[in-house]
Amino acid sequence: MNDVLSKYELAGKILADVRAEAMDKVKVGASLLGVAEFVENIISEKGAQPAFPCNISRNDEAAHATPSANDISVFGEDMVKLDIGVHVDGYIADTAVTVDLSDNADLVEASRAALRSAIEITHAGISTTEIGAVIESTIESFGYRPVANLTGHALARWDQHASPSIPNKSVLHGAILKEGDIIAIEPFATNGAGHVSESGSVEIYRLETPKPVRLPAARKLLREIEAYRTLPFAKRWLPQPRLDFILNQLERMGIVYAYPVLKEDAGGLISQAEHTVIVEKDGCRIITE
Ligand code: CO
Repeated sequence: MNDVLSKYELAGKILADVRAEAMDKVKVGASLLGVAEFVENIISEKGAQPAFPCNISRNDEAAHATPSANDISVFGEDMVKLDIGVHVDGYIADTAVTVDLSDNADLVEASRAALRSAIEITHAGISTTEIGAVIESTIESFGYRPVANLTGHALARWDQHASPSIPNKSVLHGAILKEGDIIAIEPFATNGAGHVSESGSVEIYRLETPKPVRLPAARKLLREIEAYRTLPFAKRWLPQPRLDFILNQLERMGIVYAYPVLKEDAGGLISQAEHTVIVEKDGCRIITE
């Protein structure tokens, strides 16, 4: 178990360094693809692996946005969320930060303060309903709404979204956290409706149920995908002719799972803050700072 904990801690330490370096790169006019590739490359240089593609979600986008292989977009005066994951031997640390180029500091502070108050009350034996309630009331005290249908989550080996989920608002039924649980707490605050929906574009997938495929090109792609095990991967990580066609087929067969970009229903701006913590007897310890 100590060996496992030290792998989580190493993943978290590498991730904290990567986050700091990445934040410096987010500037008006900088390329999104440049930032994503920078993040994913330095994770490898530091001896770990990305646990999922570097998510760069802007403004009303909440999550699951990452640049495509030939993306030419650059940052404007955006509210930018960087959501980054690192794994060491399958043990994952997950963090997110908002870099605000849009001059909405109080919306950024709402999700940061909610994360702080959630971390303050987290300990073995607490119910996730209490964590959700404090996140909701903190965000509302700033005059904003939490995004009700996005949650934090537990982390398990090779599983970036394990149970239980950590709600961002008060819910009827929660789970009791145990000593040693590794959880990612990630409040999202918005000046919009407080709800997100899937939009059309997909750049991120993960392997769901491997099945035999006949088409040689699909077999070849599936072998590459299997290298990521059950962790999400980016389309741009898989240079291959007719990639979209083959991925669509694999998705229809239930072999891969697609993550469409999630956008705020009323077009509101969204801020996000996230840390990974280890639940302890009398509190919790942040591993991503
Ligand atoms: Co997360």
